Amino acid sequence: MATITGPLSGDARNTVAEALQGALVDLIDLSLVAKQAHWNLIGSHFRPLHLQLDELTELARNHMDTIAERAVALGVNPDGRAATISRSTKLSQPESGWLEDGKVVATITDVLDGISKRMYERIRATDEPDPVSQDLLIAVAQDIDKQHWMFQAQR
Ligand SMILES: [Fe+2]
Repeated sequence: MATITGPLSGDARNTVAEALQGALVDLIDLSLVAKQAHWNLIGSHFRPLHLQLDELTELARNHMDTIAERAVALGVNPDGRAATISRSTKLSQPESGWLEDGKVVATITDVLDGISKRMYERIRATDEPDPVSQDLLIAVAQDIDKQHWMFQAQR
């Protein structure tokens, strides 16, 4: 079986693998939570929020692919299986059924705040072992912080 070898090994590779896998879980679940809210949303702010939640899904999907493929380039297998996401996600989950717009704004704001904090931890962790992965995580954090601002502004 072919194996992929990258520029990292040992502890550096393990540290970066953990950071990338954590980011992948955050981004996959963000895309799922945003879609759930996109579909089940109700309230007078339905239209702009419905569209904004799809922007968030698109952003999460684009970044998850970049992060997963960086892992592969380092010889690390990304794990995006549903069971893995379910077991390891730190995102608070929306309730089933209709989701009122004000509550969605509060929930997504909180979710983005948590993801941002974890991304900054990953940026610090990858600083020395792999500035290339760090650069990708910085790009994720930039977009997450921007969305965090835009959801906060609606409260
Ligand atoms: Fe849609």
